[in-house]
Amino acid sequence: MALSDSFLWGGALAANQAEGAWREGGRGPAVSDIAKYRPNVDPREYAIHHAHTVESITAAMADDDETYYPKRRGIDFYHRYPEDLALFAEMGFTVLRVSIAWTRLYPTGEETEPNEEGIAFYEGLFTEMRRLGIEPLVTLSHYDPPLALALKNNCWVDRGTIALFERFARTCFERFGHLVKLWLSFNEIDGIVRHPLTSGGIIEETVEGSILQACYTALHHQFVASASVTRMLREMWPESQMGCMLTMLKTYPLTCHPDDIAATQAKDRLLYLCTDVQAGGAYPRLALNALARQGVEIPFAEGDAELLREHPVDFISLSYYMTLAESVDPDAERTPGNTVLGVKNPYLESSEWGWQIDPVGLRISLIDLYDRYGKPLFIVENGLGMRDELTADGRIHDPYRIDYFRAHFREMIRAVDEGVELMGYTSWAPIDIISASSSQISKRYGFIHVDLDDLGQGSGERRRKDSFWWYQRVIATNGADL
Ligand code: BG6
Repeated sequence: MALSDSFLWGGALAANQAEGAWREGGRGPAVSDIAKYRPNVDPREYAIHHAHTVESITAAMADDDETYYPKRRGIDFYHRYPEDLALFAEMGFTVLRVSIAWTRLYPTGEETEPNEEGIAFYEGLFTEMRRLGIEPLVTLSHYDPPLALALKNNCWVDRGTIALFERFARTCFERFGHLVKLWLSFNEIDGIVRHPLTSGGIIEETVEGSILQACYTALHHQFVASASVTRMLREMWPESQMGCMLTMLKTYPLTCHPDDIAATQAKDRLLYLCTDVQAGGAYPRLALNALARQGVEIPFAEGDAELLREHPVDFISLSYYMTLAESVDPDAERTPGNTVLGVKNPYLESSEWGWQIDPVGLRISLIDLYDRYGKPLFIVENGLGMRDELTADGRIHDPYRIDYFRAHFREMIRAVDEGVELMGYTSWAPIDIISASSSQISKRYGFIHVDLDDLGQGSGERRRKDSFWWYQRVIATNGADL
């Protein structure tokens, strides 16, 4: 068997990590604009690095602050997107995942009318994608809540943010709905517990009560907002589709000791909480009980349960980079993963950042998700962050990246052969961009190199890596020639 002819191939980006131009076109500040460069950030300290106080935010926003904030500059996709899209088209992309910066349309999140300059930017971007035959897959919220809302009321902790987000989404559907048919509401919605500011606009020092409760309150508000805009999309554009997005942090028991199995099961229960709500339409009872034991209560308002039940997503999207193990042994060796720390798996190799490379885990993840929900899946992030070297011949030889993708594609195709419905695949990221966790660009993911270093020095010039031509052939043969 092979992938179907309608299978979409491409790449994925996020506004806050690529666009730059943070103060142009009427854009307002987002929480991503105060993320500092943190080389090889240890995930144990991730939340600490990304946490801010009101004082540190005020200092970061002051005109005389000389700290370098890489996401403010990104890779200048805002100005250079025609060149970048042309390179994606040259690779044969049929889909590109991007996100819309809320603060380009509503600079503080609270305006009643959208910023027309922001609308014009995205209209231009999506029109150019369509002209090149690239289907836009668009995330409404990818790690960039408005800073003004974070400062005002901890953004998603406040139920009032749902209505503001609905206004933003309505504008997106009204103004871009003729160009965009595939939408995602929240990137890695489960991430809020791991990075409250980045995902939820939550400034911990100003939270009343427990931070865990604040995170789950905010998460519930995002669930409600997601279901509400799914309903809105169906009313406005019935043929369009809305997906949810899960960080697929697959965990294996380190041993077959029943205690390790039970610990892994408990992890899985929380892993699947978000997809259970967004795809299944309700909170799973045992997960609610587990949260209650930690003192967390979900703030249901009248009508929430019905809304969640009646408007589940059309498809499930996921990011997949690595897997971790779980053990009850407190001395088990640990290693970082994507914004988490877990137990090291002795059978897997790791990248410089400690992320364990596990192609088979992708197949296992796809089968797990499809078995559980029976909904179409979309891999919207997968890739390898590595340092690349520009050699004397002016090229970047990146066989390690090709090896990573080849192994993952084999397993992806095996899952499809077993019967998993997979709509498409977008690599993270097809061009080097700023890392979400550490704000490095030297943790490079792209098939296209960008001449910038971690401190923003360089020409910004784009250069095709060896993997560029390899991926081009993969797409041309729809995955037959790996
Ligand atoms: C995903 C995020 O979790 O991982 C992306 O959705 C992020 O925004 C990607 O860039 C890779 O993580 P990092 O920290 O290496 O950029």
